[in-house]
Amino acid sequence: MILRRWRTEDRESLRRINADPVVMEFYPSTLSNEESDKIIEGQRRHFDRYGFGLFAVELKKTESMIGWVGVQNVPIEAHFTPAVEIGWRIASEHWNQGYATEAAGRVLKFSFDDINLSEVVAMTYVGNHRSRRVMEKLNMAYNPRDDFDNSHPKLRDTWLMPHVLYRISSKKV
Ligand SMILES: CC(C)(COP(=O)(O)OP(=O)(O)OC[C@H]1O[C@@H](n2cnc3c(N)ncnc32)[C@H](O)[C@@H]1OP(=O)(O)O)[C@@H](O)C(=O)NCCC(=O)NCCS
Repeated sequence: MILRRWRTEDRESLRRINADPVVMEFYPSTLSNEESDKIIEGQRRHFDRYGFGLFAVELKKTESMIGWVGVQNVPIEAHFTPAVEIGWRIASEHWNQGYATEAAGRVLKFSFDDINLSEVVAMTYVGNHRSRRVMEKLNMAYNPRDDFDNSHPKLRDTWLMPHVLYRISSKKV
């Protein structure tokens, strides 16, 4: 697979991923086309400003864009912020083939070797076991003392508030 920056022609594929209720099970709702397009614009700005962001994941053999894996500044205030988080979203027809873990391994190497981060965190809804499994496979550490209520405006006062935090430091990779 290739990890690359976003292109305008990725819009269609990303709209489909963000409109899939299976992918969006642990989010308040699926996303409209406009909301999905805004993510691409937001990530372009994030890359321009910070030199990192969520990469588009492209499969070499089909040249199709199947989701994202990357690092970005945590967009909420919490006990562990400011921090940089690793995140992933993959089209459901491509799940369980190791793509998220392989891409995330590369992104961690990039984070520590190329942009010199000292720590990367990952956070998710407590019941998102697929995502937690990826964090475990990356040797990220979970400490229940880091559990927190996600204060993102879209999550406040919903069942999705309880979040777990995993951490990995540059010394572990
Ligand atoms: C989380 C996500 C990116 C994983 O992508 P992926 O490419 O399937 O990940 P991988 O194949 O590398 O690893 C998935 C692991 O989860 C495991 N898994 C799958 N379903 C599971 C479940 N219900 N409970 C526990 N583990 C599960 C798989 O068996 C695999 O682990 P294994 O290699 O030990 O067998 C993908 O499911 C996704 O996009 N989910 C929706 C978006 C999302 O929730 N993103 C995270 C928000 S924090």
